[in-house]
This record gives sequence, C-alpha cells and structure tokens, in this order.
Amino acid sequence: MKVKTILVSQPQPKTDSSPYFDLMEKQKVKVDFRSFIHVEGASSKDVRTQKIDLSKYTAIIFTSRNSVDHFFRIAEELRFKTSDSLKYFCTSEAVAYYLQKYVVYRKRKIYVGERHFQDLMPLIKKHKDETEGHIERLQQVFELIGKRAQGKTCDAIEGIISEGEEIIENFKGTPALDAGLISAAQAVEHYEITRYGTLKRWAEVLGMSEAAKLFKQTLDEESMTDEALTTLADASVNETALAAV
Ligand SMILES: [Fe+2]
Repeated sequence: MKVKTILVSQPQPKTDSSPYFDLMEKQKVKVDFRSFIHVEGASSKDVRTQKIDLSKYTAIIFTSRNSVDHFFRIAEELRFKTSDSLKYFCTSEAVAYYLQKYVVYRKRKIYVGERHFQDLMPLIKKHKDETEGHIERLQQVFELIGKRAQGKTCDAIEGIISEGEEIIENFKGTPALDAGLISAAQAVEHYEITRYGTLKRWAEVLGMSEAAKLFKQTLDEESMTDEALTTLADASVNETALAAV
C-alpha cells in the first residue's frame, strides 16, 4: 500500500526548513496540517480564587512556550510586575529563547534543563565566526590610523592555551573535563575582555570615536560569550563535575 496523504496534528510550520517539507518532496506525499490541540490558559480569576500570590515565588518552571505566554498574560491581567530577581527554569532551550519575548536574558536568571557538553559546540562555532569579525574590525582600526596591520604572538594567550591543554591531559575521560574546558575557555575570554576594554578606553581618550565604537562591539561580544559559558557551567556542567568528586 502506498501512503499518499499524511495527517499531522500540528499547525503548518512557518519555516521552509521543516522536515515535513522534505518528506513531501522526497516521498511525493501530501501532508495535511491540522492543529487538533488547542491549549487554553487559566484565567486571572482562577488564579485569584485559588489565592495564588505571585509575589511569593522566587522561581518559576516553564514547560512550554504556551506556558510562558499564559504566565505573562495572567501577570499583566493581575497588574503584577515580575521582579528582576525571579529565576526561570525552562525544560528546553526553545522555551528559554522564547522567554526573551518577555524578559531580558541574563545569566543566573534563566536555566535550561538537560544541557550537555554538545550544546557548547554551536556556541564555540558561533564565537569562532565572531572572532573572524573581530580580526576584521582590528583591520579597520589599522586603516583608520593609517598603519599596516601586523600579527604578533601573544605570550599570555599561549600560556592560557597550554594551561587548557594541561587540563585536557589531566581530566580526559572524567566527568570534570567539561567544567575544566569551560574554565579554560573563560580564561581566554577574560583576557580578551581586558585587552579590548583597554583599547576601547584608549581610543576614547584619544578622541577616536570610530575606533572606540569598533572595540566596543568586540568587547560586548566577548562579554556575551563569557556569560554564555557561565550559564552553561551553572546549568549542569559544574554539578556533573561535583557529583564525581
Ligand atoms: Fe573571545
């Protein structure tokens, strides 16, 4: 029997990259999208009747994007302003990202369940691409001052890298390896932050606002990578390392 039509109980995906579209093309089948499930949130009246006082909670767990929408809808209806110190635990990264619709994503504020070392890879990849952008900005600064860009080996970075290699050597195959690798990556980020921070300040002092702007962009990206590494370490990596002690 050849399958001709498939019913999917979800709304039609908004992106072209959905695997359903590949399936349709490859297998020459028709996919019908019908969302059967409609989630309705509780009303602010329900919350009041149950005597739930939102101000008494210091953390909240979100299990879906729907739950995020409904929580903030109820908060608005109750004129409840969520505190900046409220912590959010999300069951998936998708939920955590969605949360940004309502709150500013900060480290130590949003936690994502089941984070593994593999999650580090896109982060490292992203930072590698960014680093190429940092080199380009440095070249622009050299152009601004009319000097030729020249590379020079940095003893400090070489030292941090060999320290990282030592960590790999010592903790290879143990649950503490990921925590060690994050510490090494953060050492690099912190070093870069000091350098770009100083360069930005000097450019400002010298009245070179264009160069200062370029250094600031790089500095911000380095700080964001550092924060992302802290979030990752906090999410589970440090705990995994500790559990093995
Ligand atoms: Fe960096």
